[in-house]
Amino acid sequence: MADDRPLLFFDSGVGGLSVLAPTRALLPSAPLVYVADSAGFPYGTRSEDEIAARVPALLGRLAERYRPRLIVIACNTASTIALGHVRAALDVPIVGTVPAIKPAALLSQSRVIGVLGTRATVRQPYVDDLTARFAADYTVLRHGSADLVELAEARLRGDLTDPAHYRAVLDGLFGQSGGERIDVIVNACTHFPLVEAELAAAAPHPVAFVDGGPGIARRIAYLSRGQEWPGTPPAGIAVFTATPDPALRPALARYGLTQIETL
Ligand code: DGL
Repeated sequence: MADDRPLLFFDSGVGGLSVLAPTRALLPSAPLVYVADSAGFPYGTRSEDEIAARVPALLGRLAERYRPRLIVIACNTASTIALGHVRAALDVPIVGTVPAIKPAALLSQSRVIGVLGTRATVRQPYVDDLTARFAADYTVLRHGSADLVELAEARLRGDLTDPAHYRAVLDGLFGQSGGERIDVIVNACTHFPLVEAELAAAAPHPVAFVDGGPGIARRIAYLSRGQEWPGTPPAGIAVFTATPDPALRPALARYGLTQIETL
């Protein structure tokens, strides 16, 4: 029997669209709900305690309202801090988004990797742990940027930004000791793949970028194998926790999210 329970994607803003897009490509019949906690945005400058309290409570309300078959925390900040809390609180399968250090290590020739995340993500023990497990004998340089999150939000609203802003962000990585040998950058914030072209153009030399989106899409397909999907998927729903910005409508529509709601 067709099952119209959606996949629910959650982020502080529009970043999680970089995880929704490869999932939608792999599972075109999946009903989608995309949630931006715009009232709590940005997460990257918040404390661990704030995120650990806010995210499970909000996801609890969202799970009741939308009855998802699976929840994707499409946010590295929320995942590296609150994944355990959310799994303990909810009886729904939860997929998190954590920095793609493992694929980056497999790709790097120079063995110098840059990790670009929010300020909160780059200081997490979760990132120490991923580095120790998958890149122990690599140089892993981290940089946390709140500006880049804002640049990505602006990009999705249709604003074009001076390339100097992207160069300034990247200087935080390439300007570190050994930074000139970086050959792979982990986009460890889901907002950053949305401005990957701008980042690539601003980099002082060619680098590869990796992020968790494609791997998460495969994981969701694996976890939902054997499940039924509706023949024609309903319109995707974008949910905001504060009044939605109308300038985001065209971008949301490109991701199939044509119905807009406020929580
Ligand atoms: N997109 C989020 C992440 O992956 C956080 C951005 C923010 O709210 O600071 O970390």
